[in-house]
Amino acid sequence: MSQPAWADSDLKAVRLRTEYKINPVTDVANPRLSWELTSAVRGQVQTAYQIVVASSVQQLAATKADLWDSGKVMGNATNQVEYKGVPLASRMICYWKVRSWDKNGQPGAWSSPATWEMGLLSKADWKADWIGNDLTALGKGKTYHLPPAPFFRKEAILKPAIKRARLYVTALGLYEFYINEKRIGKDYFTPGWTDYNKRVYYQTYDVTADLKPGKNALGAILADGWYAGYLGYALLVGNPVVRGFYGDVPLLKAQLEVEYANGGKEVITTNQGWKTNHGPIVEADILNGETYNATLEFPGWNKPGFTDSAWKTAAVYPDKADRDVDVYPGDPIRVFQELKAKTVTPKPGGKYLFDLGQNFAGIVRLRVTGNKGDTIRLRYGEVLFPNGDIMTENLRKARATDTYVLKGDKQGETWVPRFTYHGFQYVEVSGFRMPPAKDAITGIVLTSATPEAGSFTTDNKLVNQLYHNIVWTQRSNYFDVPTDCPQRDERLGWTGDAQTYVQSATFNNDIAAFYTKWLVDLNDAQRADKAYPIYAPAPNVRKTDTYSPGWSEAGIICPYTIYKTYNDTRVIRAFWPNMVAYLDFMARKTNGDVIYKEASFEDISPKGGFGDWLSVGKKTPPDMLATLYYGYVTAMMAEMATAIGKSTEAAAYEANVNKIRQAFLAHYADETGKFKTNAAAYGDGEGYVDGKMGFDGHTQTAYANAIYMHMLNAGQTAKAGNWLVDLIEANNGKLSTGFLGVKPLLPALSATGHSNEAYKLLLSTDYPSWGFEVVNGANTIWERWNSYVKGKGFENNAGMNSFNHYAFGSVNEWLFENAAGIKVGKPGYRTFIIRPEIAGTGINAVDATYHSINGPIKTAWKKTGKMTALTVTVPANTKATVFIPVTHSGEILESNKPLESGSSIRMIERSNGYQSVEVGSGTYQFTSQ
Ligand code: BGC
Repeated sequence: MSQPAWADSDLKAVRLRTEYKINPVTDVANPRLSWELTSAVRGQVQTAYQIVVASSVQQLAATKADLWDSGKVMGNATNQVEYKGVPLASRMICYWKVRSWDKNGQPGAWSSPATWEMGLLSKADWKADWIGNDLTALGKGKTYHLPPAPFFRKEAILKPAIKRARLYVTALGLYEFYINEKRIGKDYFTPGWTDYNKRVYYQTYDVTADLKPGKNALGAILADGWYAGYLGYALLVGNPVVRGFYGDVPLLKAQLEVEYANGGKEVITTNQGWKTNHGPIVEADILNGETYNATLEFPGWNKPGFTDSAWKTAAVYPDKADRDVDVYPGDPIRVFQELKAKTVTPKPGGKYLFDLGQNFAGIVRLRVTGNKGDTIRLRYGEVLFPNGDIMTENLRKARATDTYVLKGDKQGETWVPRFTYHGFQYVEVSGFRMPPAKDAITGIVLTSATPEAGSFTTDNKLVNQLYHNIVWTQRSNYFDVPTDCPQRDERLGWTGDAQTYVQSATFNNDIAAFYTKWLVDLNDAQRADKAYPIYAPAPNVRKTDTYSPGWSEAGIICPYTIYKTYNDTRVIRAFWPNMVAYLDFMARKTNGDVIYKEASFEDISPKGGFGDWLSVGKKTPPDMLATLYYGYVTAMMAEMATAIGKSTEAAAYEANVNKIRQAFLAHYADETGKFKTNAAAYGDGEGYVDGKMGFDGHTQTAYANAIYMHMLNAGQTAKAGNWLVDLIEANNGKLSTGFLGVKPLLPALSATGHSNEAYKLLLSTDYPSWGFEVVNGANTIWERWNSYVKGKGFENNAGMNSFNHYAFGSVNEWLFENAAGIKVGKPGYRTFIIRPEIAGTGINAVDATYHSINGPIKTAWKKTGKMTALTVTVPANTKATVFIPVTHSGEILESNKPLESGSSIRMIERSNGYQSVEVGSGTYQFTSQ
């Protein structure tokens, strides 16, 4: 396969990205560039690269780098390479390409060109005013205060020969923007949720093709959104504030910049020259739904020539000087897929029930024909009662109802709400005159458009369904922020859920941009005492909401995971002072004890924090978990300090980890290594989550976390693994873990040589287990192990019973890292480990792919009779340590030849049922008897 020496290399740079995105708009001053490498040559590496950046396609084609020529840079870097050329100004478009030299020092071809465009880099670039229309007084309702959505319009006369046009647009609230009737962009819920007191994001759209010389009409609709609408459970808990957490009146800021062929420029901005009115969108609220009265439409409002004399002048609102206006760094919310109704069932009272076949987050498209004034009401539910009625109790105070009033168009009417979303599979519709066709309702799946990154299939249907459920639950909850659930009056960026699931999430989708955004939310939400909050963004939806061990650590665990997964040291640098301040806070909370003894967190509500939320049986002491987490994140701080060259800090954190480990064992373990607690310190448990169940240190959750977090030495780890197995056996072979115990459970079993026990739990269908949800009909991950039981019904609907809650889906980490066996080595998977765990029974084949920032990794294993086959694909410029399972003592073949060291394979050792080898890039087919 090696190339003749005279030929150029086949090494090719593909998938060029800037700040994690393909041809984006960014306001990062020195954007980071990345590419992936392809080559048909085994063991291929990049020995050098060259990047060229130019201000025009022509100059780039001629390799005239007027912005930056990196020159030939030695080394294997292919990602997080910072632009270091001439300083970039607002609005510039940068064209770039890259080429790489291979292991023989031969250059590959130049890549295809890619671009990025600079946004508005300074606040002074913004000439637009915030405009609004205060309709709060019109929002009077009995339970809900829901004002109508204001419309805005303005006409602009443009000259001929428009060369380039950009729309920069944002809102405090949610916006939709139109030019000459056309909706601009495909994004939903723009500009996204932030702490609007500190920052708001804007979108940039290339609207060159949407404008024409002469009269153009600009239009916008605003809704309350996260800014002014209802949030979380504020209404449910009787919080003094239930809506309008950031402001009452949604505002718009837009700037249309037009460049003519002759070099002339024109800027049209929101200001008091805009007209406003309210009309068909009578109510629009994320949690409570949208009401659209089509009889109140203003036909042609967003077309030139519309008579707006009845519209009033928009009001200009002052800017907040210290509020940043930044380019949206995340992935926008987009339509993922449409779902056709599977069935339509008539129900009493002229209602019809549509089943869309999958629980998801999104909206519907309604098609209806009827008379003017006919009213269609849509209610949404995730599941049905045994009698076939839609179950909505679990939505709690989220009204989640959309209403459409017909204008009476004989051709039929189509409506899609745009400022609300629901978590549902079923839609109950009332108000049809005639029995509806199946396409009267179409599901529209919305999600943050995180690129797909992984796949996982086995020969076991139950496990495949579980994986399907995990993927759909992530899709439903990665919705601008990582939410707990998409349906009830909550939908908050719960930090505990986020931290426990983040590693799992990386395997399904590329979450780098999504988390780049949310980590800003999380750090913007750091409290005055420096603790990270329980949800971010953090409008206090309950006065007593503070912080919680197991939740707050998201402030360290999430950046760490992004660093490891994407080789991203910028997140470490950006949030380093915040993370240090948080650890200082945690250090103060030890009261000089190094660790947290029982009842250390009586000052928060609930006492001790949320602990092992929704576990079964006796509670693991929250202080013990807080201690384990403290050690765990301190170790992460040490590693991150090293990554950014802070060796003194690294040594200090490392030393503290050791102290925490020792103090943990001294306090929470007896001389045999068995975990214990002083349960008496919790009194009768009053004020603690499930405190009445009593506390015990000897739990599955305790051992699983201690092992997973490397808080024990080798001997103690082995013992802890045995205790863990004993506890599972004593519990009739079942798990008992909650939010904090479930993620480490299977990894801890695997780490201590109990892979078969891990598989047993994975394949169990008894309560509580993942399989129990599947056999009870789940197509998403449930909040509770027994959210619904066939023949028995629901568990605690009115309290908390979400059917789309990703926390228990954190088993995904084990599916990829252990069942398929893909584990990160050097950050960004520059090196990685393939060590699949072969199941004793139940599963005979696993096939997984993971598209890392260094390219696609594949692993597939299959057992047939005595033979185990393992196929592995290692991307160019990476190295893997592969553990080839040797079930029997026979020979190992690679692509049908005896396995031996060669140019891209190096034998390491045979132990514990594996032959380990180090391999360079390429595809390898190993078989062993
Ligand atoms: C949310 C959780 C969250 C928890 C705090 C719940 O209401 O849905 O997922 O982490 O509160 O314990």
